[in-house]
Amino acid sequence: MKFFIDTADVDDIRYWNETGLLDGVTTNPSLILKSGRDIKEVLAEICEMVEGDVSGEVAATDYDTMLTEGRKLAEIADNIVIKLPTTMDGVRACKVLTDDGFKTNMTLCFSATQALMCAKVGATYVSPFIGRVDDMGVDGMELIEDIRTIFDNYGYETEILAASIRTMNHVKDCAIAGADVATIPPSTIEKLIRHPLTDKGLEAFLADWEKTGQTI
Ligand code: G3P
Repeated sequence: MKFFIDTADVDDIRYWNETGLLDGVTTNPSLILKSGRDIKEVLAEICEMVEGDVSGEVAATDYDTMLTEGRKLAEIADNIVIKLPTTMDGVRACKVLTDDGFKTNMTLCFSATQALMCAKVGATYVSPFIGRVDDMGVDGMELIEDIRTIFDNYGYETEILAASIRTMNHVKDCAIAGADVATIPPSTIEKLIRHPLTDKGLEAFLADWEKTGQTI
């Protein structure tokens, strides 16, 4: 499963990029706001830093302006993915932009039928928001499983990009369910390697090593 980082914070992106674990980046208007940066400037900096796909989201909600904004975002760099909302206008814009050779990421996907429509128009990625589905009292992971089954049934190549990830278990369950990508916020990605028994075991090994009086 690919790891994308869900942030527009260039310091976090730089750190995770250097670990070799990062396959791409996703941003959205809220994350741009949080960064305090100009969207084009920060996306250009991220695209320069990261080799993989970097999603930049349009702000328009109508088809024509989505196309204009999408094309402008794509001018920033070759690894820009145009992120569009999963609405009818977004699906129509996705079809045109995909046919023109741009990569697309359909965001704010909350149902399997929405994902099916995105796949039918050839979206590069579809982003089911699992945390926000959980917030509604419904199991967000079932959405990933349903989309995986549908895409496999028909051989759709659209990648399932699990978004709105809040916990380590979300990441684990996404990998089990066969999501192609998980976009993970910095606060969660750094938890994935931690385990209290690793810390406890290491502490005991170090104490015993000290007693050997040896060096390597
Ligand atoms: O990738 C979408 C993500 O940023 C939304 O996450 O936690 O605001 O639902 P959240």
